[in-house]
Amino acid sequence: MKGIVLSGGAGTRLYPATKAMSKQLLPIYDKPMIYYPISVLMMAGIRDMLIISSPESIDDFKQLLGSGEQWGVQFSYLVQNKPEGIAHAVLISKEYIGQDSFTLILGDNIFWGHGFSDILRVAVQQKQGSSIFLYWVSKPERYGVACIGEGNKVLDIEEKPKQPKSHWAVTGLYCYDHHAPEYAAQLKPSSRGELEITDLSRCYLQKGQLNARFMEEGIAWLDTGTHESMLQASMFVQAIQERQGLLIASPEEIAYRLGYISAQQLLKQAEIMKSTNYGKILLRLVNES
Ligand code: G1P
Repeated sequence: MKGIVLSGGAGTRLYPATKAMSKQLLPIYDKPMIYYPISVLMMAGIRDMLIISSPESIDDFKQLLGSGEQWGVQFSYLVQNKPEGIAHAVLISKEYIGQDSFTLILGDNIFWGHGFSDILRVAVQQKQGSSIFLYWVSKPERYGVACIGEGNKVLDIEEKPKQPKSHWAVTGLYCYDHHAPEYAAQLKPSSRGELEITDLSRCYLQKGQLNARFMEEGIAWLDTGTHESMLQASMFVQAIQERQGLLIASPEEIAYRLGYISAQQLLKQAEIMKSTNYGKILLRLVNES
């Protein structure tokens, strides 16, 4: 199983904050936004990841994340020349995907909560077909929305419908088998000029190969699409971290807990950040063990 983190997009909804910088490099409280989706993939046991970004930003991501060795994972990089859609990113990842199944996560999606890793780990085991992850929201019209029938069966998925048929939003996390690029190549651009991920999932639905996984109430799926929602996400992370004295979405911590890096390697990285709370919590982790 491979992982793809999509950090493209023009980010115009966050102008001027994103005029000279990719949205996924902006901080959510104390760490770059992209740390959150990377942590999700790491917690699912995925160690081989492709980072996709725009020509302007790809070098910034390389500078931030490097080879991945520091976290016991491997990063590859790919440029998406224009923001032509999430399914387009799948299409251009054909070579990287090869014969493997993969988990795609959007670089601005934040997941946190009890039971989340378990749901994802189950989905990741699946070698054929696809999985989408549904979350109950009050304003589904902003997202892909699943139409649910008897026995929680997905009947259809619609991209940002004006009149949503349910409150179940499709989150920015998808598991697909290696046929996905082939199906993406057959899609036509939508009215917003993009190859839509919703249309790709629909291909699997039509073949009877789409698993819908419902996220439980204890899980948080946070939006970072606007300045307000980014601030709310930051406050959420700050409140929980301060209360527990633990870090949410620290790749260093996850790598250490999963045994990808030694205490010595963690210590080296924590030392550099020791003037911050982030670094102090990592130092404490080394000392406690
Ligand atoms: C994209 C997908 C949408 C999904 C959302 C999740 O929307 O097209 O189906 O619900 O991500 O974050 P976009 O961010 O491109 O508006």
